[in-house]
Amino acid sequence: MKTGIDALSFYTPRYYLDLVTLAEARGVDSDKYCVGLGQQHMAVCPPDEDVITMAATAALPLLRNGVGDAIDTIFFATETGTDQSKAAGIYVHSLLDLPSRCRVVELKQACYSSTAALQIACALLRQKPDSKILVLASDIARYGLGTRGEPTQGCGAIAMLVTTEPRLLEIEAESGYYTADVMDFWRPNYKDEAVVDGHFSTKVYLSSLMETWRGYEKASGLSFGDVTRFCYHLPFTRMATKAHHLLARHTGNDQLPDETLDAQIADSLHYNRVTGNSYAASLYEGLTSLLDKSSEDLTGKRIGLFSYGSGCVAEFFSGLVQTGYTDHIRRGAHEKLLSDRVKLSCDEYEAFYSFRLPQDGSDLNVPQNLTGPFRLGRVSEHKRIYQKVG
Ligand code: CAA
Repeated sequence: MKTGIDALSFYTPRYYLDLVTLAEARGVDSDKYCVGLGQQHMAVCPPDEDVITMAATAALPLLRNGVGDAIDTIFFATETGTDQSKAAGIYVHSLLDLPSRCRVVELKQACYSSTAALQIACALLRQKPDSKILVLASDIARYGLGTRGEPTQGCGAIAMLVTTEPRLLEIEAESGYYTADVMDFWRPNYKDEAVVDGHFSTKVYLSSLMETWRGYEKASGLSFGDVTRFCYHLPFTRMATKAHHLLARHTGNDQLPDETLDAQIADSLHYNRVTGNSYAASLYEGLTSLLDKSSEDLTGKRIGLFSYGSGCVAEFFSGLVQTGYTDHIRRGAHEKLLSDRVKLSCDEYEAFYSFRLPQDGSDLNVPQNLTGPFRLGRVSEHKRIYQKVG
């Protein structure tokens, strides 16, 4: 039985900061951000959007024509949790008017949790092949104003419909996975921003890639040449370039020209370059970008996917692109979403960034900005109250 991704939708807020503007404000050569990190823009979340509104907006287009009625499980992957107890997916379930005969749960392991959700969804479907599972990944990457991590901030959400008749990508059963107790990046409960040992985190990312590749190779019997395109977890696009070249060397493929290696990942990088890191959503934003942007017909091709979550857990796995996939991608909607965004000045970005909801239970009507069809309208008595827009 096949299991895999039937539909994919991506959402990022309506505002962005140009990294040249950020570099000027921080007194840094803009090539460091644009060439050294490989980033162009950074998506910025306004006060009335959060991981819940982003995920609901990403999911909305996938649930038309009665699909929503067939959803029996929602997994919500995030490291930007809004509550220590209640799953963020329950608000999404409510905003999208999904059936009450549904289970909803939140998963956490840094940026890796979306892959755990996808793998668990595929396993559940083997027990109950008629069901449809909604996997949501939504995050806001925050390191702090003026920090070294600041140019790698960003935000966004992915919604994936996972079924036994996947029209986009069949997920293959074999994978290599790896866990190690490392402190490369974490966020204690009392902090709004991640604590990160940046250079160490890039080293752990690369060593985890080697470990998971070894496991994948052993489990699948496949080699580097069996994989046509690669999607990597994308904290910033240069990370994927480094990872891919290292993997090629490690597997004895260093005779391949740089252009060949770069072409194997190039299409997966477009969206991340203009949104920045979306943590748990980031790998699947890369996959969306690849399917949307590839000028080559990818039908039948094997895509390698590397998922990395600091702390750390990682997995290398693969999928086969399905016949007719181009009829089911949402390229036009994704491109319009990105081209319609509003550019912020550095002061406007800092004002959005510095906004805080009350933490003492008092009431606040959240200032209204451009959003998708859902917004956080109010907080009162420690409750988040969402609104449908227009
Ligand atoms: N022109 C061109 N390139 C330049 C340049 C210039 N003027 N100035 C610097 N560069 C290059 C540097 O040479 C470097 O490239 P190499 O790595 O190839 O040498 C690159 O730009 C970055 O420069 P620095 O290493 O000096 O940058 P930094 O120390 O200020 O910060 C960072 C880089 C550590 C990644 C920091 O942005 C950070 O901490 N980011 C958050 C953590 C992160 O993203 N980690 C990734 C792995 S962990 C993960 O993937 C999980 C996750 O989602 C967080």
